[in-house]
Amino acid sequence: MANLWSGRFEKEMDDIVKEFNASIGFDSRMYDEDIDGSIAHVTMLGEQGIIDPEEVKKIIAGLEKIREKIKRGEIVFSADDEDIHMGIEARLTAEIGDAGKKLHTARSRNDQCQVDGRMYLKKEIDEIIDRLCYLEEVILDKAEHYAEDLAIGFTHVQHAQPVTIGFIFMAYFQMFRRDIERLKDTRYRMDLCPLGSCALAGTTFPIDRQKTAEILGFRGPTENAMDSVSDRDYSIEFISDSAISMMHISRWAEEFVWWNSQEFGFIDIDDSYCTGSSIMPQKKNPDMAELLRGKVGRVYGDLMQLLTVMKGTPLAYNKDFQEDKESLFDAVDTWKTSITIFANMLKNTRFRTERIEEQFSEGFLNATDVAEHFAKQGIPFREAHEIVGKMVKKCESRGCGLEDLTDEELKDVDARINRKLLGDISMKACVEARGSFGGTAPTEVRRQIRVGRDFLKAMKDDKER
Ligand code: ARG
Repeated sequence: MANLWSGRFEKEMDDIVKEFNASIGFDSRMYDEDIDGSIAHVTMLGEQGIIDPEEVKKIIAGLEKIREKIKRGEIVFSADDEDIHMGIEARLTAEIGDAGKKLHTARSRNDQCQVDGRMYLKKEIDEIIDRLCYLEEVILDKAEHYAEDLAIGFTHVQHAQPVTIGFIFMAYFQMFRRDIERLKDTRYRMDLCPLGSCALAGTTFPIDRQKTAEILGFRGPTENAMDSVSDRDYSIEFISDSAISMMHISRWAEEFVWWNSQEFGFIDIDDSYCTGSSIMPQKKNPDMAELLRGKVGRVYGDLMQLLTVMKGTPLAYNKDFQEDKESLFDAVDTWKTSITIFANMLKNTRFRTERIEEQFSEGFLNATDVAEHFAKQGIPFREAHEIVGKMVKKCESRGCGLEDLTDEELKDVDARINRKLLGDISMKACVEARGSFGGTAPTEVRRQIRVGRDFLKAMKDDKER
């Protein structure tokens, strides 16, 4: 097939060059967007009197026909097509004849691939936000279910303070909420239409870029043609968003792997989210959690790839930019699947509250509470901290908990303290007393859940509007 620039060329491309040059192998996933963009463009060209209305009709009908054929798998693209834009344009001309040759008036593939990319990504962002909202809903339901159940709060993977399981869930809720909000910001910034920027400098035709932007559902047109064809910030931003969110998934997945170990024994992941071993009959491995933890590596790679592609590229379009797609698609696919797998694994995980409670006796989880009780009785906190440190030392040599020390032993540590001053330092009491805003007390966790539900409701209302 002679290519679209055959006028200037005497020789065909070498076969290996053709393959190397082509993006059709991956950009064909944007065929719907490409056709929508073309229909908007040609509609505008008709309204502006640049193309005859009859030809506009023919072109639109031809494009719709091609859309159907692609959907039915009747069109097989090859490296001869080079990319989805040329692939569809060539099919159009074959389908409707000369009118098809007018479609590419006042546009270039440089702006065309960008309008496709932005439309594609906006659609995927909406889908990803939906999935993140589903994950958040699962988290809220679990947080509610486990709002009162005690858990161990760690710092440095050392027992730190008692918390509730619901509280831990709500910590992750905040991370994914920020991910959603980040995506919304990214979507807003990219919601400008580059179509009509043409190769780099605009056009001499009297086009109406506001019109095409409006037809395609953008907030408006991009401001500067040269920037429009050279900008890949929106993809980089999106992949950054996915890298951050995958990092969140990976952190919790890591906790799942640990919590599922014999050493912790905190959780029981449903069989349907685990695998066995080909040799060790007893095994039930948390493979999904491990895979999720591993998947983040791909997305970090995608981000570095595109940042590196863009680095040092001069204005305006460079072919390097064609390398923007595979990493973007990979980040989209990886993130989307990971969210759903993760949400469902979470849904199908039971917390073994009895096993968790068995481990409360280790690590003096209530030490801070004792110090706070002393401080409330007038002992300055620094001194109280020191006193409790000494109590811990005593307990360690005796092999008991803080609540087991006798009045005698306490007096031995500091004349001012006794068992009464210790107060109620059961795990339940310690947790219930941490009612400061954002704290772990069940009343607070329930407030956080309410705020979370309001957020999801606002997201839903926003979508319906
Ligand atoms: N397939 C190309 C890409 O994705 C489309 C733009 C080609 N433009 C050009 N001047 N060669 O970047």
